[in-house]
Amino acid sequence: MDNRPIGVFDSGIGGLTVVNTLIKILPGETIYYVGDTARVPYGNKSKKRIQQFSAEITEWLIKKDCKMIVVACNTVSSLALDYLQLKFSIPIIGVIKPGVDNAVNSTRNFNIGVIGTQATINSNAYGKYLKSINPSIKTVSQSCPLFVPLVEEGWIDGDIPMSIAKVYLDRIINAEVDTVILGCTHYPLLKGIIQLILGEKINLVDSGQSIAQLVKSELSNNNSLSKNCLGDIHCFVTDDATSFSSLASRFLNRDIRKTIIIDIY
Ligand code: DGL
Repeated sequence: MDNRPIGVFDSGIGGLTVVNTLIKILPGETIYYVGDTARVPYGNKSKKRIQQFSAEITEWLIKKDCKMIVVACNTVSSLALDYLQLKFSIPIIGVIKPGVDNAVNSTRNFNIGVIGTQATINSNAYGKYLKSINPSIKTVSQSCPLFVPLVEEGWIDGDIPMSIAKVYLDRIINAEVDTVILGCTHYPLLKGIIQLILGEKINLVDSGQSIAQLVKSELSNNNSLSKNCLGDIHCFVTDDATSFSSLASRFLNRDIRKTIIIDIY
Protein backbone atom coordinates (compact mmCIF):
# COMPACT_ATOMS: atom_id res chain seq x y z
CA MET A 1 0.00 0.00 0.00
CA ASP A 2 1.25 3.48 -0.88
CA ASN A 3 -0.91 6.54 -0.27
CA ARG A 4 1.47 8.98 -1.92
CA PRO A 5 0.22 10.86 -5.00
CA ILE A 6 0.63 9.91 -8.64
CA GLY A 7 2.33 12.73 -10.54
CA VAL A 8 0.83 13.47 -13.95
CA PHE A 9 2.15 16.13 -16.28
CA ASP A 10 1.58 17.67 -19.65
CA SER A 11 2.73 20.70 -21.61
CA GLY A 12 -0.54 22.36 -20.61
CA ILE A 13 -4.17 21.59 -20.05
CA GLY A 14 -4.57 18.67 -22.48
CA GLY A 15 -3.25 16.01 -20.11
CA LEU A 16 -6.39 16.41 -18.05
CA THR A 17 -8.01 14.04 -20.56
CA VAL A 18 -5.66 11.42 -19.07
CA VAL A 19 -6.57 12.48 -15.53
CA ASN A 20 -10.21 12.02 -16.48
CA THR A 21 -9.63 8.34 -17.24
CA LEU A 22 -7.29 7.84 -14.28
CA ILE A 23 -9.90 9.03 -11.79
CA LYS A 24 -12.48 6.68 -13.27
CA ILE A 25 -10.22 3.62 -13.09
CA LEU A 26 -8.36 4.58 -9.89
CA PRO A 27 -10.84 6.70 -7.93
CA GLY A 28 -8.94 6.34 -4.63
CA GLU A 29 -5.65 7.79 -5.88
CA THR A 30 -4.47 11.33 -5.21
CA ILE A 31 -3.21 13.06 -8.34
CA TYR A 32 -0.75 15.93 -8.60
CA TYR A 33 -1.15 17.42 -12.07
CA VAL A 34 1.37 19.83 -13.55
CA GLY A 35 0.53 21.77 -16.72
CA ASP A 36 3.43 23.75 -18.13
CA THR A 37 1.13 26.53 -19.30
CA ALA A 38 3.99 29.05 -19.50
CA ARG A 39 5.80 27.04 -22.16
CA VAL A 40 2.97 25.26 -24.03
CA PRO A 41 2.94 24.15 -26.84
CA TYR A 42 5.70 21.53 -26.84
CA GLY A 43 4.54 20.09 -30.17
CA ASN A 44 6.67 22.47 -32.25
CA LYS A 45 9.78 22.46 -30.02
CA SER A 46 13.10 20.64 -30.30
CA LYS A 47 13.92 17.35 -28.58
CA LYS A 48 16.51 19.11 -26.40
CA ARG A 49 13.99 21.62 -25.04
CA ILE A 50 11.31 18.97 -24.54
CA GLN A 51 13.79 16.85 -22.54
CA GLN A 52 14.85 19.83 -20.46
CA PHE A 53 11.28 20.98 -19.68
CA SER A 54 10.04 17.50 -18.84
CA ALA A 55 13.04 16.77 -16.58
CA GLU A 56 12.35 19.97 -14.64
CA ILE A 57 8.72 18.98 -14.08
CA THR A 58 9.59 15.38 -13.17
CA GLU A 59 12.11 16.62 -10.61
CA TRP A 60 9.49 18.90 -9.09
CA LEU A 61 6.95 16.06 -8.83
CA ILE A 62 9.56 13.78 -7.25
CA LYS A 63 10.28 16.46 -4.64
CA LYS A 64 6.54 16.45 -3.92
CA ASP A 65 6.95 12.76 -3.03
CA CYS A 66 5.02 11.25 -5.95
CA LYS A 67 5.19 7.46 -6.15
CA MET A 68 4.98 7.30 -9.94
CA ILE A 69 5.06 9.71 -12.88
CA VAL A 70 2.56 9.52 -15.72
CA VAL A 71 3.63 11.42 -18.81
CA ALA A 72 0.28 12.43 -20.25
CA CYS A 73 1.86 14.40 -23.09
CA ASN A 74 2.36 12.48 -26.34
CA THR A 75 5.11 14.84 -27.45
CA VAL A 76 7.12 14.22 -24.24
CA SER A 77 6.36 10.48 -24.39
CA SER A 78 7.68 10.43 -27.99
CA LEU A 79 10.84 12.48 -27.51
CA ALA A 80 11.86 12.31 -23.86
CA LEU A 81 10.51 9.19 -22.12
CA ASP A 82 13.75 7.16 -22.44
CA TYR A 83 15.71 10.16 -21.27
CA LEU A 84 13.51 10.61 -18.18
CA GLN A 85 13.57 6.90 -17.37
CA LEU A 86 17.38 6.92 -17.46
CA LYS A 87 17.68 10.09 -15.43
CA PHE A 88 15.25 9.23 -12.62
CA SER A 89 14.78 6.02 -10.65
CA ILE A 90 11.03 6.42 -9.96
CA PRO A 91 8.59 4.50 -12.27
CA ILE A 92 7.73 6.71 -15.27
CA ILE A 93 5.04 5.68 -17.76
CA GLY A 94 4.28 7.29 -21.12
CA VAL A 95 1.30 7.10 -23.46
CA ILE A 96 2.92 5.50 -26.53
CA LYS A 97 3.09 1.88 -25.37
CA PRO A 98 -0.50 1.62 -24.07
CA GLY A 99 -1.82 3.42 -27.16
CA VAL A 100 0.06 1.09 -29.48
CA ASP A 101 -0.97 -2.05 -27.56
CA ASN A 102 -4.58 -0.99 -27.84
CA ALA A 103 -4.26 -0.25 -31.58
CA VAL A 104 -2.57 -3.60 -32.28
CA ASN A 105 -5.41 -5.39 -30.50
CA SER A 106 -7.94 -3.42 -32.52
CA THR A 107 -6.60 -3.68 -36.07
CA ARG A 108 -7.81 -6.41 -38.41
CA ASN A 109 -6.14 -5.25 -41.64
CA PHE A 110 -2.81 -4.16 -40.03
CA ASN A 111 -3.12 -0.67 -41.48
CA ILE A 112 -2.94 1.88 -38.69
CA GLY A 113 -3.12 5.67 -38.85
CA VAL A 114 -1.41 7.95 -36.33
CA ILE A 115 -2.18 11.63 -35.82
CA GLY A 116 -0.31 13.95 -33.45
CA THR A 117 1.75 17.11 -33.09
CA GLN A 118 4.59 17.89 -35.49
CA ALA A 119 7.23 16.75 -32.96
CA THR A 120 5.41 13.47 -32.24
CA ILE A 121 4.91 12.64 -35.92
CA ASN A 122 8.46 13.66 -36.91
CA SER A 123 9.89 11.42 -34.16
CA ASN A 124 7.98 8.43 -35.62
CA ALA A 125 7.81 7.05 -32.06
CA TYR A 126 4.41 5.43 -32.69
CA GLY A 127 5.46 4.01 -36.07
CA LYS A 128 8.67 2.50 -34.66
CA TYR A 129 6.92 0.93 -31.71
CA LEU A 130 4.12 -0.47 -33.89
CA LYS A 131 6.71 -2.06 -36.21
CA SER A 132 8.63 -3.50 -33.25
CA ILE A 133 5.49 -5.33 -32.14
CA ASN A 134 4.49 -6.54 -35.58
CA PRO A 135 6.75 -5.78 -38.58
CA SER A 136 3.92 -6.38 -41.04
CA ILE A 137 1.91 -3.44 -39.70
CA LYS A 138 1.73 -0.51 -42.12
CA THR A 139 1.38 2.97 -40.69
CA VAL A 140 0.39 6.30 -42.12
CA SER A 141 0.89 9.36 -39.98
CA GLN A 142 -0.19 12.97 -40.14
CA SER A 143 0.54 15.97 -37.94
CA CYS A 144 -2.46 18.19 -37.24
CA PRO A 145 -0.96 21.36 -35.73
CA LEU A 146 -4.16 23.40 -35.73
CA PHE A 147 -6.07 20.85 -33.62
CA VAL A 148 -4.42 21.96 -30.35
CA PRO A 149 -5.33 25.68 -30.65
CA LEU A 150 -8.84 24.74 -31.81
CA VAL A 151 -9.42 22.67 -28.68
CA GLU A 152 -7.87 25.32 -26.43
CA GLU A 153 -10.38 27.77 -27.91
CA GLY A 154 -13.22 25.35 -27.30
CA TRP A 155 -13.78 25.11 -31.06
CA ILE A 156 -14.50 21.41 -31.21
CA ASP A 157 -17.45 21.27 -33.61
CA GLY A 158 -18.92 23.21 -36.50
CA ASP A 159 -17.70 24.13 -39.98
CA ILE A 160 -14.23 25.48 -39.17
CA PRO A 161 -12.79 22.46 -37.29
CA MET A 162 -14.60 20.18 -39.74
CA SER A 163 -12.95 21.77 -42.80
CA ILE A 164 -9.51 21.73 -41.15
CA ALA A 165 -9.91 18.11 -40.06
CA LYS A 166 -10.98 17.09 -43.58
CA VAL A 167 -7.72 18.44 -45.01
CA TYR A 168 -5.56 16.77 -42.34
CA LEU A 169 -7.34 13.41 -42.51
CA ASP A 170 -7.34 13.06 -46.28
CA ARG A 171 -4.15 10.94 -46.33
CA ILE A 172 -5.45 8.75 -43.53
CA ILE A 173 -8.69 8.07 -45.43
CA ASN A 174 -6.80 7.18 -48.60
CA ALA A 175 -4.55 4.74 -46.75
CA GLU A 176 -7.54 2.53 -45.90
CA VAL A 177 -6.64 2.13 -42.25
CA ASP A 178 -9.08 0.45 -39.87
CA THR A 179 -7.63 1.99 -36.69
CA VAL A 180 -6.39 5.49 -35.93
CA ILE A 181 -4.34 6.43 -32.86
CA LEU A 182 -5.26 9.84 -31.45
CA GLY A 183 -1.65 10.61 -30.53
CA CYS A 184 -2.17 13.91 -28.75
CA THR A 185 -3.78 14.89 -25.46
CA HIS A 186 -6.20 17.28 -27.15
CA TYR A 187 -7.51 15.11 -29.95
CA PRO A 188 -10.04 13.08 -27.91
CA LEU A 189 -12.00 16.31 -27.64
CA LEU A 190 -12.28 16.37 -31.43
CA LYS A 191 -13.28 12.71 -31.56
CA GLY A 192 -16.79 13.59 -32.74
CA ILE A 193 -15.71 15.29 -35.96
CA ILE A 194 -12.77 12.93 -36.55
CA GLN A 195 -15.12 9.95 -36.38
CA LEU A 196 -17.61 11.70 -38.65
CA ILE A 197 -14.94 12.30 -41.29
CA LEU A 198 -13.31 8.86 -41.06
CA GLY A 199 -16.59 6.96 -40.71
CA GLU A 200 -18.00 4.71 -38.02
CA LYS A 201 -16.05 1.64 -39.13
CA ILE A 202 -12.71 3.11 -38.12
CA ASN A 203 -11.71 2.50 -34.53
CA LEU A 204 -10.24 5.55 -32.80
CA VAL A 205 -7.71 4.70 -30.10
CA ASP A 206 -7.26 7.24 -27.36
CA SER A 207 -3.70 6.81 -26.02
CA GLY A 208 -4.57 8.69 -22.87
CA GLN A 209 -7.42 6.34 -22.11
CA SER A 210 -5.22 3.30 -22.69
CA ILE A 211 -2.64 4.41 -20.13
CA ALA A 212 -4.93 4.25 -17.10
CA GLN A 213 -5.11 0.42 -17.14
CA LEU A 214 -1.32 0.25 -17.38
CA VAL A 215 -0.95 2.59 -14.39
CA LYS A 216 -3.35 0.41 -12.41
CA SER A 217 -1.51 -2.82 -13.19
CA GLU A 218 1.93 -1.25 -12.48
CA LEU A 219 0.74 0.03 -9.12
CA SER A 220 -0.86 -3.25 -8.23
CA ASN A 221 2.24 -5.28 -9.30
CA ASN A 222 4.39 -3.05 -7.09
CA ASN A 223 1.89 -3.28 -4.24
CA SER A 224 1.56 0.50 -4.43
CA LEU A 225 -2.17 1.09 -4.82
CA SER A 226 -3.44 3.54 -2.23
CA LYS A 227 -5.78 2.34 0.50
CA ASN A 228 -8.24 4.25 2.65
CA CYS A 229 -7.70 7.26 0.47
CA LEU A 230 -10.31 9.56 -0.98
CA GLY A 231 -9.04 10.47 -4.43
CA ASP A 232 -8.21 14.11 -4.90
CA ILE A 233 -6.79 16.23 -7.73
CA HIS A 234 -4.25 18.99 -7.06
CA CYS A 235 -3.50 21.19 -10.06
CA PHE A 236 -0.29 23.16 -10.56
CA VAL A 237 0.60 25.36 -13.51
CA THR A 238 3.56 27.49 -14.52
CA ASP A 239 1.36 30.43 -15.57
CA ASP A 240 -2.20 31.78 -15.62
CA ALA A 241 -4.01 29.75 -12.98
CA THR A 242 -7.39 31.42 -13.53
CA SER A 243 -7.93 30.46 -17.13
CA PHE A 244 -6.53 26.99 -16.35
CA SER A 245 -9.14 26.45 -13.64
CA SER A 246 -12.04 27.29 -15.93
CA LEU A 247 -10.73 25.17 -18.82
CA ALA A 248 -9.90 22.34 -16.39
CA SER A 249 -13.42 22.37 -14.98
CA ARG A 250 -14.65 21.89 -18.56
CA PHE A 251 -12.15 19.10 -19.32
CA LEU A 252 -12.85 17.20 -16.11
CA ASN A 253 -16.50 17.99 -15.78
CA ARG A 254 -15.99 18.96 -12.16
CA ASP A 255 -15.25 22.18 -10.34
CA ILE A 256 -11.50 22.85 -10.19
CA ARG A 257 -11.06 25.88 -7.99
CA LYS A 258 -7.62 25.89 -6.53
CA THR A 259 -4.89 25.81 -9.14
CA ILE A 260 -1.50 26.84 -7.80
CA ILE A 261 1.19 28.64 -9.79
CA ILE A 262 4.63 27.09 -9.31
CA ASP A 263 8.19 28.08 -10.18
CA ILE A 264 10.06 25.15 -11.61
CA TYR A 265 12.76 26.87 -13.60
N1 DGL B 1 0.25 17.76 -24.96
C1 DGL B 1 0.71 17.79 -26.31
C2 DGL B 1 0.71 16.35 -26.85
O1 DGL B 1 0.01 15.48 -26.38
C3 DGL B 1 -0.14 18.69 -27.17
C4 DGL B 1 0.03 20.17 -26.88
C5 DGL B 1 1.43 20.68 -27.18
O2 DGL B 1 1.82 20.80 -28.34
O3 DGL B 1 2.15 20.95 -26.21
O4 DGL B 1 1.43 16.08 -27.78
